[in-house]
Amino acid sequence: MYSQFFNNEASANIRSLLSKEVCEVLLKIGCFADKKSLRVFAVGGFVRDLILNKANFDIDIVVEGDAKSFVTELASEFNAEFKIFDRFHTAKIYSEKINFDFSSSRKETYKCPGALPEVTFSNIYDDLFRRDFTINAMALSLNSDNLFKIVDYFGGIKDLEASVIKVMHKKSFEDDPTRLYRALRFAHRFGFKLEEETNYLFKQAIKDKRVSSLSVKRIASEISKIFKEDMPETIIEELTKNKMLKHFAHNVRIPPLEPLGVEDILSADLEAIYWIYFLSQMPPTFKSETIDQLGLPHSSRVKVLDGLDAFKKIPAALEELTCHDHIKLYYLLKKHCIEGLLALSYFKLNKTNSEKIIYYLKNLRLIAPVINGKDLIDCNIPAGQHIKNILNYITELRLENKSLSKLEELEIAKQLYANIQHKNPS
Ligand code: CTP
Repeated sequence: MYSQFFNNEASANIRSLLSKEVCEVLLKIGCFADKKSLRVFAVGGFVRDLILNKANFDIDIVVEGDAKSFVTELASEFNAEFKIFDRFHTAKIYSEKINFDFSSSRKETYKCPGALPEVTFSNIYDDLFRRDFTINAMALSLNSDNLFKIVDYFGGIKDLEASVIKVMHKKSFEDDPTRLYRALRFAHRFGFKLEEETNYLFKQAIKDKRVSSLSVKRIASEISKIFKEDMPETIIEELTKNKMLKHFAHNVRIPPLEPLGVEDILSADLEAIYWIYFLSQMPPTFKSETIDQLGLPHSSRVKVLDGLDAFKKIPAALEELTCHDHIKLYYLLKKHCIEGLLALSYFKLNKTNSEKIIYYLKNLRLIAPVINGKDLIDCNIPAGQHIKNILNYITELRLENKSLSKLEELEIAKQLYANIQHKNPS
């Protein structure tokens, strides 16, 4: 099936799979490396996805040499934006659509299981050998003498052909137990199986409780990646089955997500939605400080905390309302982020209550006066709490389906302010 990557036309065949944009940049990187007499390769997931003919705009580049000075000079030649990460000897070049991460080829030694490895500079062979699975341990040569030739020392193409996930060596899961999660994730994503010995090593690592050496942050980071996959519920079920949810409740499950018909207009943060439901299932002994250790980006963390609050407060309150109670529905739900409301609708509420949320999201959420505070101040209404009250009153009129022009809103506002003054003359 993949013999086209080894015949005489291999380079041309690879080239035909690259988008024009990606191809141009890879050629530039290769030419630049030629000038510097350095070997340079695209590696890892990008090469795997290229062979599978799947788009991937996260490109890892390995330089046999100092990646930091390579990137500094490359970026200055092409006037590109870049950032050096001194601690990891890596660098990033920013382009509009493609992410380029550069590192020096290196060898990793694990002093103790689950900890981060010790790193020494080495060649491409060692750099590929330190990786998780054979399908992720291939490189694409970018130098002109071997342009677009696949470097496959460990049978990655054969394993792609056989649809298997195979570890590079016996100690892989022991060295880095996050690979247990990655194995399940890639198997699910590509519809692959764990290769026989890998499956044995997987089970052995579970039996030996290798997962227990991982911090909450490292496990959470793997769960976050799982939430980004299609139908993550299947992988979460595997994690539950294999007791891989240390720090969390062991019996968490996520039901399949049935689209509600509002997703397109909301562009919600799906990862936050999954986290909200996932964490809503934690037992009372679960410490809320653990949420701070998940390593979620700040914006997602805020949504998750708000969503968990919505899970406590909204279900009972919704029981008392119908879709016709526009004003009450609006004030109840407006306080919460859409991720919390969607998590409730997807996973928690019955159909009737879920429909109330969908009704709010579709019809009420964006209702607001046409006028704003500045319009009121321009009409000589001084700043103060009454501005908010006036705008709320007009919002409520709109929620009651009154159609109002801007002029009508201004008239109502002036009238309201006159009434307020009349009641509380200063
Ligand atoms: N890698 C590894 N062991 C890990 C994590 C990463 O060996 N625990 C290596 C793999 O070679 C992987 C590469 O680093 O291909 C990049 O890691 P990452 O970006 O996490 O993986 P991708 O394979 O690019 O996966 P995805 O398609 O999910 O981005």
